[in-house]
Amino acid sequence: MNPSGRQGGVRIAPSILSADFARLGEEVQAAEEAGGDWIHVDVMDGHFVPNLTLGPAITEAVCRSTSLPVDVHLMIESPERYVADFIRAGAHRITVHHEACTHLHRVLEQIRELGALPGVAVNPATPVELLRDVLPFVDLVLVMTVNPGFGGQAFIPTSPGRVARVQALLEELRPGESVAVQVDGGIDAATAGAVVSAGADVLVAGSAVYGHPQGVAEGVRAIRLSAEASMGNGGEEGV
Ligand code: DX5
Ligand code: ZN
Repeated sequence: MNPSGRQGGVRIAPSILSADFARLGEEVQAAEEAGGDWIHVDVMDGHFVPNLTLGPAITEAVCRSTSLPVDVHLMIESPERYVADFIRAGAHRITVHHEACTHLHRVLEQIRELGALPGVAVNPATPVELLRDVLPFVDLVLVMTVNPGFGGQAFIPTSPGRVARVQALLEELRPGESVAVQVDGGIDAATAGAVVSAGADVLVAGSAVYGHPQGVAEGVRAIRLSAEASMGNGGEEGV
């Protein structure tokens, strides 16, 4: 598996939230065949966010359907209660929300000790500077570009500036290291360029992939073209 990081170009993580759950295995395979890099699994508990989605059993089915890394985004309160179940299900990465964890450092260490790569997510209204003290302990920072809870929402335009501020913190605190900066929500061919230019290197996309009128392959391709154009020649690092 490639490590995270800008050196490898931009990664695309199709979110199965917008897939047809009656054909979940095929939908996951379609994302892999389309050139998706990770499969993104959105877990919602009806408390931290006003929606309910899926748990470890469906995550295990996703893991069985692909050879790609499975990237689990926990939008749940008290994630420490479920981390072991998702890792047992096969999750490669687990991202928890800053806003949902009283003992954030402890949860991040728990994820790593159990064998997955820990990530931390921030909602659009949370100052990214609050992440400073946990940045030494994460492999990924997820900058939410919508308020979490639903697919198909509009990209919040302050997001690229927030991504740039995360990159600046990483350059200060983790110079030369590969810490992924992920964005999630409202990412499509029109918005990908701005976040990639700001320093995002993992793009989550649900409706722009599974809802693309020409199908999943075209959805992934359109985002990749836009992202690569913003990085300079064919995906090489631009700035
Ligand atoms: C939102 C989820 C996203 C969602 C993105 O709370 O975390 O992963 O699937 O969906 P789109 O790409 O449609 O905004
Ligand atoms: Zn997500």
